[in-house]
Amino acid sequence: MSEIPFNRPGIIGNEYEYIKQTITHMHISGDGVYSKKVHAMLEEMLGVKKVLLTTSCTHALEMSAILLDIQPGDEVIIPSFTFVSSVNAFVLRGARPVFIDIRPDTLNMDESQLENIIKPKTKVIVPVHYAGIGCEMDVIMGIAEKFNIPVVEDNAHGLFGKFKGKYLGTFGNFATQSFHETKNFTSGEGGALLINDPEYIERAEIIREKGTNRSRFFRGQIDKYTWVDIGSSYLPSDILAAFLYAQLENRELIQSKRKRVWNFYASRLKDWAEDNDFRIPFVPSHCEQPYHMFYLLSPSLEIRQSLIEYLMSNRVHAVFHYLPLHISDMGKGFGGKKGDCPVTEDISDRLVRLPFYNDISEEDQSRVIELIHSFSV
Ligand SMILES: Cc1ncc(COP(=O)(O)O)c(C=O)c1O
Repeated sequence: MSEIPFNRPGIIGNEYEYIKQTITHMHISGDGVYSKKVHAMLEEMLGVKKVLLTTSCTHALEMSAILLDIQPGDEVIIPSFTFVSSVNAFVLRGARPVFIDIRPDTLNMDESQLENIIKPKTKVIVPVHYAGIGCEMDVIMGIAEKFNIPVVEDNAHGLFGKFKGKYLGTFGNFATQSFHETKNFTSGEGGALLINDPEYIERAEIIREKGTNRSRFFRGQIDKYTWVDIGSSYLPSDILAAFLYAQLENRELIQSKRKRVWNFYASRLKDWAEDNDFRIPFVPSHCEQPYHMFYLLSPSLEIRQSLIEYLMSNRVHAVFHYLPLHISDMGKGFGGKKGDCPVTEDISDRLVRLPFYNDISEEDQSRVIELIHSFSV
């Protein structure tokens, strides 16, 4: 019986050929031919003012915090149900996280609680589009505009997902993407900062280039470059951009493969879930999802754990996801306590993600599904 991993990265097109070309071009550091191609492609497709590839989504989030001049004592509103980088990027600048609970249906920020927790110290709101299913961006942007608070969309999961017909990542002042190995489009490690507010473009280029105006120098706009701001080294090698470009060129093929995988799980597990007090993901009719992941919500922590163990004993890797940040060691240090975000605490105990990658075969998926059907709750 072969093993079915949770994730398996795959080659889709010209990855090797384009990597070879970066070496032929004799430019394998950042912002070479392929980085520029990726920037232009994403800017055009998404209709974003500026895209800058970064070494990770974590680093794109860190750039956002620097760009917004987050200072010690500022507050960031963020769901507790997210990856640690969404919050750490702001905490690194001295911010205090204010954790907001999630909606039980989409597992996204509960926008109905947002207005109540805004204070004069609130300097940024960070919606996370969980599984690439859009947060309620019209309500969130309305509140952000009313209080004049910038928004950074953590869109690590959601490239090409849409909310009410508009691409995720095009609502906030900035958005951040991940090209980590587990994402739909990958360069192994990688990310991007999407800038919707042109006022920030020049400073973003500087922060990404170690606090220097080297980008302007390379464009011939100045005759030497120098240290002008704080910054770090956030640009990836063109080798990674070449790999990513080959993936993005095949976005329709990748998305159609993932759509098949998602629909296969959904159609075969829907009735079983209903009969066994489980639930499959909910996608509101006004959201177009990018088919990033498929999860089940079990009736309890105990049942979730025994399902994971049962699958594992049959060589199938299914995994849980985020632990609530407000009751992590760091979260408690910021005053978080059990009961602050009850939906997050509950969902985190009950969620299990099933193996999901472009090339998972129908045969392997059927094995996962049959095992689930034979699992006695
Ligand atoms: C919501 C969210 N934000 C940020 C990240 C960090 O992404 P990266 O590994 O590209 O830094 C992740 C990682 O999966 C994530 O799930």
